Order: sequence, then C-alpha cells, then structure tokens
Amino acid sequence: MVNSVRWCVLFVVLFGIGLTNAAEFPEFAALPVRPELPDPLVMLDGTEVTTAKDWNAKRRPELKQLFQHYMYGYLPPKPQRWSVEKVLFSDPTFMDGRATISESRLAFFGPDLKHRLHVLLVVPNKRSGPVPVFTAMNFCGNHAIANHPGIHIPEGWVYKSCGGSENERATERGRGTQAGDWNLDLIVERGYGIACFYSGDIDPDTPDFSDGIEPSFYAPGQTSPGPSDAATIAAWAWSYHRVVDFLVEKHRATVDSGRIAAVGHSRNGKTTLLAAAMDDRIALAIPHQAGCGGTAPDRVSIDRKDVETIRRINTAFPHWFCGNFKLFNEQPEKLPFDQHCLVALCAPRPVLYTNALDDQWANPDGQFEMLKAADPVYRLFDSGGLDVSERPDLRKLVDGKLGYYIRPGKHAMDREDWGVFLDFADKYF
Ligand code: GCU
Repeated sequence: MVNSVRWCVLFVVLFGIGLTNAAEFPEFAALPVRPELPDPLVMLDGTEVTTAKDWNAKRRPELKQLFQHYMYGYLPPKPQRWSVEKVLFSDPTFMDGRATISESRLAFFGPDLKHRLHVLLVVPNKRSGPVPVFTAMNFCGNHAIANHPGIHIPEGWVYKSCGGSENERATERGRGTQAGDWNLDLIVERGYGIACFYSGDIDPDTPDFSDGIEPSFYAPGQTSPGPSDAATIAAWAWSYHRVVDFLVEKHRATVDSGRIAAVGHSRNGKTTLLAAAMDDRIALAIPHQAGCGGTAPDRVSIDRKDVETIRRINTAFPHWFCGNFKLFNEQPEKLPFDQHCLVALCAPRPVLYTNALDDQWANPDGQFEMLKAADPVYRLFDSGGLDVSERPDLRKLVDGKLGYYIRPGKHAMDREDWGVFLDFADKYF
C-alpha cells in the first residue's frame, strides 16, 4: 500500500489539478457498465483529448494510473541503489568469435529491498558502433538460452516443464534447452544484441509472493498485497526497466540506448507490453502471442471457451494481476479501459503483435481489433499507426508503427518469428 500512496503523491505533484487522483478512482460498484470500447481519447471525467501535447500531459498519465490501479498493481519504484555486484564471466569467443557473451549479477537495494537479477548479454563482435539490443525475459533461466558452461544455473524455483528441471529446480541438463526459441545466431548475424533474464529471479511464477520482490515494498506490518499493490506481471515489468538501467548506465559503448527493444512470449509478452507502456526508454516492443491480460481485449463474453477470459486467467493465475482486477471477472465491461489503451501508451513508438493461427486462446483477431482501436492515438503524432483495416493474410507482415503478423502453427517462439521481429526492428532501427 505504501507504494500506492507514494505514487499518488507523485501523481498529484507531477500533474497538478485537472486529473483524477488515483486515490479518487471510483470503487468497482460506482464504475459504469460500458460494453463498447472506452475511447482512448476521452478522459475519465469526459474531457476530450485532441492533441499529442494533451495526450502526453493528461491522458497518458491518467491511463498509466488506471492500468496500475485496476489491473496490474503499481509498479515498484526504481531501487534507491543498485550495482553490478559481479560480472560472472565474459567470453569474446562465443559463436566462433562472432559474439561476446557475458553474464552480470545485478543487486538492488532499498529500505527493505535486497534482490538479485542475472543478465545474460550477447553482442556481435563485428560492429561499427553501439548496437541495437533486445531485452527479453525468459521462462527457464539464462542457462537454457545457450549451451555455455559459464552461465549460472538458477538456484530457485523453475517450471516443471523446463528442460533439465528436477523437483522444480534447474540442473546442468537444462543448458541450451531453449536455444531453438532464441536463435542467437540469427540475432547476432543481423547485427543485434540481446540482454536476457529469468523471470524467477524477480518473482517465481507461483501464487506465493513471499519468494519475489513484492514484499520488499510492503508497508511496515503488511503481510499480504493490498488491492492495487504490484502483482507478478508488474514485478516482472519492473525487471525489464532494471535491465534497461543496466544497458543505459553500464553499456553505453556497446549498446545504443536509443535502440532498445523489448520482447517476450506469452505471459512474458503481457509483461513486455506493460514494461513498454510504462517506460519510454523502450523504443520498440514485441509482445509475442501475449493474449489475455496483455494484447487481447478484456471485453470478451465471459462464457466464451475458445479464447481466454479475465475470469479464466484470474482463476488459473491468481498472482499475475492485482486484487482489484478480480472484481471484473464477471463484468469486464466495467473496466474504464481496454487493452487498446495499453498499446496506445506506447505511442508513437513502434509495437508489433505477432501471432499463430492455432493459438486462438490468445485471441489473434481480438488483438488486431485492439490495434485498430489504438490507431487514433498514434494518429495524434502524425507518424502513422496501423496502416491496414483488415487482418492481414498469413505471413504478411504489416509493419506500420502498429504492426501485426500471423503465421500458421502453434503457440511458440521460433526462428520464423525471430526473422519477423528482426525485419520489423530493421525498419525502425
Ligand atoms: C497460459 C495462459 C496464457 C499465457 C500462457 C503462456 O496459456 O492461459 O494467458 O499467455 O499460458 O504464458 O504460455
């Protein structure tokens, strides 16, 4: 709760009168039922926004607060202090000398914060200046990304489904087991770097917050999260921001701080979009097959079985979203926003939604509708938005500022996907 209070104070100080203070956001019962998508360009008090200036000064801050208040919980503040505690290794001979791979252990400190995050950084050796970099959260640990003996093996919880997982702990057998998802050779060949980290370092994906960073931000005496305190996706988004700090503050010579992209698959994609919405330093975002609670609409009939609904996601993954979000399980149409407003928060930065035909659970058609509904916000910036009105055919990349791609096949991140991510990034970087 202390976190929310801190934000409210900051909110009032920064944005002054004229905006609804987060503390005054209506209770669930007082929110009107709005079956139609809320207009991203109309403030909570009904004021219309017609300029990029007003969007940036008024509506964007309001929407950032609304998403945190009702859905994700307030992202923790930047740590009071952080450091690179140790560079675990650095190997310039990676990929037959085409890249340098290193792993750094970051340490965060605050009044009650003491936490560590391992960042695996791969950068091409052939470069004429600082390179563009993808920041990316992974599912199974950095050691799963590449088979390199120097990469540390996570000590804490990992998913049972991860290669080499034994009793929900990572083992040596997991090394390189996700290399096919990451395609480091392609990334390096195309002149990009990647800064990868494991979600479990920040908060293991279990309904229990005690092993994550969240309790570090509780008020004295608090033992469980308040209704708008950070839940797991917010904590993970915070970690993307910490990796950006690391790149911007410690790697200026090799990484171009103006060309930092964020990418993530599925639950990590939901996190990617939230991270980009909240932090302008992320210059381009690719939430891949992110679906419900990220790129797909909240307003879907609660009885649908073919796509994920808020009720389903909050039941299966009660720790991903804040307490307030559960209030909308039966009535998503009471939300004062929908997910088009989240992507709109990235305007005018490029965002690409990538999907797969067999992954209907992630609602690829609904995602396209979200881009359409966000387009008017991008148009305020005169820099293009979604440049088509119909969902494109399979394998046709729509590469406007609001990009879209759908391929045949299933829920996965593969080499074809990376080819598309790189094509999209090439256009803007
Ligand atoms: C489940 C969940 C999705 C999520 C996916 C994933 O399918 O319902 O919301 O995106 O897991 O993270 O792989």
